Amino acid sequence: MASPVTQAPPLLLLLLLFVFLLTSSISAWKKDEFRNCNQTPFCKRARFRKPHSLPPFTVSDVSLSDGGLSARLVSSEVPRPLLLHLSVYHGGILRLKIDEDSSTDPPSRQRFQVPDVLLSDLNDRRLWLSRLSSSSPGFSSFYLADGFEAVLRHDPFELSIRRTGSGSDPTQDRILSLNSHGLFDFEQLRSKNDGEEWEERFRSHTDSRPYGPQSITLDVSFYDADFVYGIPEHASTSLALRPTRGPGVDDSEPYRLFNLDVFEYIHESPFGLYGSIPFMISHGERSSAGFFWLNSAEMQIDVLAPGWDDPESPVNGRIDTLWMSEAGIVDAFFFVGPGPKDVIRQYTSLTGTPSMPPEFAIAYHQCRWNYRDEEDVAAVDAGFDEHDIPYDVLWLDIEHTDGKRYFTWDRTLFPTPEEMQKKLADKGRKMVTIVDPHIKRDDSYFIHKEATEKGYYVKDASGKDYDGWCWPGSSSYLDMLNPEIREWWAEKFSLENYKGSTPTLYIWNDMNEPSVFNGPEVTMPRDAVHYGGVEHREVHNANGYFFHMATANGLLKRGGGKVRPFVLSRAFFAGSQRYGAVWTGDNSADWDQLRVSVPMTVTLGLTGIAFSGADVGGFFGNPETELLVRWYQVGAYYPFFRGHAHHDTKRREPWLFGERNTALMREAIRTRYSLLPYYYTLFREASVSGVPVMRPLWLEFPDDKEAYNNADAFMIGSSLLVQGIYEEKQKTVSVYLPGKKQSWYNLKSGVAFAAGMTHKLEVSEDGIPSFQRAGTIIPRRDRFRRSSSQMVNDPYTLVIALNSSLAAEGDLYVDDGKSYDFEQGAYIHRRFIFYNGKLSSSSIRPSNAGEKKFSSDCVIERIIFLGLPNGPKRALIETENRETDIEPGPLVLRSGSSPRALVVRKPNLRIADDWTLKIF
Ligand code: GLC
Repeated sequence: MASPVTQAPPLLLLLLLFVFLLTSSISAWKKDEFRNCNQTPFCKRARFRKPHSLPPFTVSDVSLSDGGLSARLVSSEVPRPLLLHLSVYHGGILRLKIDEDSSTDPPSRQRFQVPDVLLSDLNDRRLWLSRLSSSSPGFSSFYLADGFEAVLRHDPFELSIRRTGSGSDPTQDRILSLNSHGLFDFEQLRSKNDGEEWEERFRSHTDSRPYGPQSITLDVSFYDADFVYGIPEHASTSLALRPTRGPGVDDSEPYRLFNLDVFEYIHESPFGLYGSIPFMISHGERSSAGFFWLNSAEMQIDVLAPGWDDPESPVNGRIDTLWMSEAGIVDAFFFVGPGPKDVIRQYTSLTGTPSMPPEFAIAYHQCRWNYRDEEDVAAVDAGFDEHDIPYDVLWLDIEHTDGKRYFTWDRTLFPTPEEMQKKLADKGRKMVTIVDPHIKRDDSYFIHKEATEKGYYVKDASGKDYDGWCWPGSSSYLDMLNPEIREWWAEKFSLENYKGSTPTLYIWNDMNEPSVFNGPEVTMPRDAVHYGGVEHREVHNANGYFFHMATANGLLKRGGGKVRPFVLSRAFFAGSQRYGAVWTGDNSADWDQLRVSVPMTVTLGLTGIAFSGADVGGFFGNPETELLVRWYQVGAYYPFFRGHAHHDTKRREPWLFGERNTALMREAIRTRYSLLPYYYTLFREASVSGVPVMRPLWLEFPDDKEAYNNADAFMIGSSLLVQGIYEEKQKTVSVYLPGKKQSWYNLKSGVAFAAGMTHKLEVSEDGIPSFQRAGTIIPRRDRFRRSSSQMVNDPYTLVIALNSSLAAEGDLYVDDGKSYDFEQGAYIHRRFIFYNGKLSSSSIRPSNAGEKKFSSDCVIERIIFLGLPNGPKRALIETENRETDIEPGPLVLRSGSSPRALVVRKPNLRIADDWTLKIF
């Protein structure tokens, strides 16, 4: 959120002024605007409960039903038995559902289960349970995956996963467990007792809570775990989740998952930001595991320090966590790993892998609130060309509309939007406009008119269309939980309906938490009512997800299902990776925020969202030039790379800071453009396996303990390591290079550095330390054009970094960059292997890849070898029996040469063909 700048009707000016003062005048995070755990009764109740202090739940009536295990959960505390169901999915996934039993004693309403997040084919991947074993009395156990079994203890209720073959004691060799501390609690729906007060107050707001308390609490333990990660979105400079309770922890809040528009968020806080993904990964030397709770109500999660339950005997190697949710049901998934990439694969096999973005979207984006008018757009566009800086997308923020009525244009400022987009398109560039979820309550606005007539708005507790305050003033909010409304919304993006749009216009969904300036905690009241009588409290964290989904489907429809959409969203939930990119919202132009952007983006990748980044330069405030340059140098590696700024800041296009700084920013952006083939190949990998583009070091080096909590460096794919510079005037930097008996080659100098140690390096202004891992091959494109689409016919460079066996390998994935033809096989996917002095190129193409072909005449124009011993003088292309030049040559993109590289010049080998090249 940021200060409103629009004119409001006079009646509303006072309120606007109030909102303005509330949101803009004090430049600091307003902690008091948001509830803490003590002000949140369900959290307070659950958090201070002692282990095993509740009457225990026991399991009864165990049977096999519907391919899984069914049972009842009984406790003297709950009026009706709960229903428990366990099922198993292919690949090492256990699902636990616990809900009320509506068949015997119907509760007043069904509890909410989040729809449309799990993939629709999930049921086909179920393993049918046909046998239970009860190795010990009072336990039911069953096969989960090779090497793993699930164990249900009946009295007291406890669920665990353990490795098989580790003895008859069912509590041995566990990797995960639930309710080992007896903290499971389930507040059943019931009638109000006499005199009982269900309303909750916070500041000036009252939540009517018509259905009373309905929270759920559970404890989950991760074994063999050094750290736990995930559960975005929080701002923390630590990659691993710091304990929030227990010995050594000062007073801390639990991690909050509640999607909020937090003004000027700070860089160290467990408070919830714009998105929520209730998925946690544990990792230790022996294995990794994961836990996901599909529930979109407010959640609070404690990570407990060893000894939290018994300070006298802290248990190391086990991490206990406490999960508290305000409503919904238990629909929880356990992932057995055993490797960290397995856990991510298992999680994304439920919620979907990231969709394949159109190629332009992974290049550089230029945004500002606001580019004023068509002249401004033209000037910025020309500025990039004048300064030889590539960029792909120009963005328009809220001021481009007619009074914040989305899908319209301020025709004074933007009289010819189609022409403006066409001018950009002629250079291969695109435009993005913002479309927010708040709809101006103005009877002459076609969206509002239709939505009102059709009854498409979320209702307030009294049944009227909910009326909140946002950029346009008085606004209502479409109920995107309803599939019919999503379809209707999607139609609004057709070229016919969205006047002034063209096929090169893409969309930005902001404020979809939703942000409501005058609502409780700057969002919608929890007792607002959605489709099917669902309360906003139940669906809150998925609100932005459904909006993002509807918009992405709109762009998909616009292109007849043939063109990949691009939609950026601020709010997100589990599964958002299927609909586009997200960014980390309104950060500030300071060094700590540059630092925190890395663990935030890495965490998003770990939890499925591969396509994310932070506003380069920082949204609020004016970055000093050095910070801006450093931000470009780090940001050039974010999967989503966009410069953006608040309207109160000074202009900061990359050429406004003197020649030297322009050159530095140009160099950073060009580095990204040269690596686009590598990035695109990694996006392909993410879309197939879920494994993210930007990775924590430990994802690649799971055995290297030094890497476990390194939040300052990150991997791009498996081959590149990047270390950010996060301090002003920094002279030296310590870079830990993971692995054993390997080396890493500095990307610019080609100098080799040993792995498994920390190197103290001098910091230079012209880039941040980045290294290519020995044993890898990275494809690049080193000719600079105005935009990525102008590079499609350009030749490639392969950079081959040899390991100690003088071998290396790497991939290149290419398709048309925009359609879905790749799903029918229209792509080129090559594997390059260098071994025994020979480089070979072969196709990676599974037999079910499809019939369609993608053809390309692109060639490899240069092959750079790092780590080749002195000696080789000749390069022979064996498949064509011709020789090609080889000599020491430049490694870097800029002028200057490095004796450490050997360059094969103009081999002109086609990327589409099989070939071998011999060095001797
Ligand atoms: C929100 C967004 C920001 C945008 C502004 C105006 O604050 O997070 O990126 O520029 O709204 O639309």
